[in-house]
Amino acid sequence: MKNIVKKIRFVVILLAVALMSVGKIYSQTGSGTIPKIIEKNGRHAFLVDGQPFIMLGGQAHNSSGWPGMLPQVWFAVKTMNANTLEVPIYWEQIEAQTGKFDFSLVDTLVKQGREHNVHLVLLWFATWKNGSNHYMPEWMKREAGKYPNITGRNGQPVDSPSPHTQAAMEADAKAFAAVMGYLKKSDPQHTVIMVQVENEPGSWGSVRDYSAEAQKLFEGQVPAELLKPEVLKALNRPVVSKGTWIEVFGDNADEYFHAWSVAHYIGYIGAAGKAVYPLPLYVNAALRDPIKNPPANTYESGGATDNVLLIWKVAAPAIDILAPDIYMSGSEQALKVIELYDRPDNTLFVPETGSSQEYARYMYEVFARGGIGFSPFGIDDNGQGASEADITARLAPIAQEYEMFSPMMRELAKWGFEGKIKAVVEREDHAAQTIDLGKWQATVTFSPGGGRSSQPNTKPIGKAMVVQLGENEFVLIGSLCHFTFHPVGVNAGKAWQYLKVEEGKYENGTFKLLRIRNGDETDWGGPRFGALPAVLHTTLITR
Ligand code: DGJ
Repeated sequence: MKNIVKKIRFVVILLAVALMSVGKIYSQTGSGTIPKIIEKNGRHAFLVDGQPFIMLGGQAHNSSGWPGMLPQVWFAVKTMNANTLEVPIYWEQIEAQTGKFDFSLVDTLVKQGREHNVHLVLLWFATWKNGSNHYMPEWMKREAGKYPNITGRNGQPVDSPSPHTQAAMEADAKAFAAVMGYLKKSDPQHTVIMVQVENEPGSWGSVRDYSAEAQKLFEGQVPAELLKPEVLKALNRPVVSKGTWIEVFGDNADEYFHAWSVAHYIGYIGAAGKAVYPLPLYVNAALRDPIKNPPANTYESGGATDNVLLIWKVAAPAIDILAPDIYMSGSEQALKVIELYDRPDNTLFVPETGSSQEYARYMYEVFARGGIGFSPFGIDDNGQGASEADITARLAPIAQEYEMFSPMMRELAKWGFEGKIKAVVEREDHAAQTIDLGKWQATVTFSPGGGRSSQPNTKPIGKAMVVQLGENEFVLIGSLCHFTFHPVGVNAGKAWQYLKVEEGKYENGTFKLLRIRNGDETDWGGPRFGALPAVLHTTLITR
């Protein structure tokens, strides 16, 4: 009898140890609920394991999703402290033979993601990759008649697939649905949290398809979905109940027709995947100048540029997010892009950007607006033979921000969703900026030591964020800047001081104190932030 009890005890202990280790390995996925986007009062949250989540991401180079390339990708992920890797999967590899699917690369990525305790966003490189069809399987490339490219205005060939080809759309949808079905089966713990459908779709070199078939469609009627009064009004067009593309959209007809066609095709693919496994889906966009309203032949026409976001929303409801790839480092343009893609009907997410300090500052603006992710492109060495020290140095501007944000990622996501964060980023003129906080106004100046030096930063790379926790209680985050406060409104004219400025970091939902900043560290107006970002829990008081 004693022996049986001993044996049972032993088995129970073994089971408990096994369960604990499973919990550890899969700690990235506690609740098992499927990731999803929620919206409240025009703000969004990305729920992973049922809680708001921010992707502190990095994207691998285009040809780095192969097993032999992954060690350097994981090195980059680790050295930059990312919690999410965006990595391509390739239609040409997955369906190298018609109808035969090989998911070995997906398996490898998912397995290694789990081993590194990092989430994945898979990028479905398929009909479109930067406007071309270069990731279509060989068997499709060899049949140009069945899977044609578009034709330019003067009949010239254009290196961009036609969005009017049913056969290509069905083939892509079938393959994408197979990928999603495989993920559903093989990834119950949701290592993969989101999927990008295609990559920067649209066309370079022609505003639309001018082939005979496309021309016929273009001369036909605008689809009823686009003729809804609210849609036409938002597009600044007269409300009509029917008309051809030219009649309804005038000078914008060519681009809108192409945007509709590309979006409709991709929406079909997204819907096919979602029907199998409803992970959040997004489409990334090569941008146009967001301020100058340039002609469509100067950028990638048909993609989800800021002027056609609504057309994409209407044409592709299965796509949750239209996401800007930000490669314009100037603050006026970059901030405008962020503003334009942050809409009640669109969750803000920057899936590609640069990794230098000039780009790193925009992370603050994105998170302040409740954006759900930020991800510099090309994090790995791409087979160039750089030393690990070089890669670490290249990624340092992002790494230091992610290191600070990682332990407070859940708080940050919740604060962003609740609208509690405000941010400023240093502009090219290095001018001071103010942040209104009810009874207080913060003034942020930018300089290397964060303050007393009269010299501005050599480049516009400073940034600051304020989380308002209460009337007088704030979390200040930033680098290369200096904060001071002024009592305003009902506080105007009152004497004031810092009640307490606590430096530390959030861990498992609680703030852990490193030190109280006082004396030189808060005098001359307020706290300074040097090159390394810091988190200051700050309380003010009037006297
Ligand atoms: C944007 C694309 O989406 C990426 O795949 C890559 O081609 C980069 N451009 C290169 O800068």
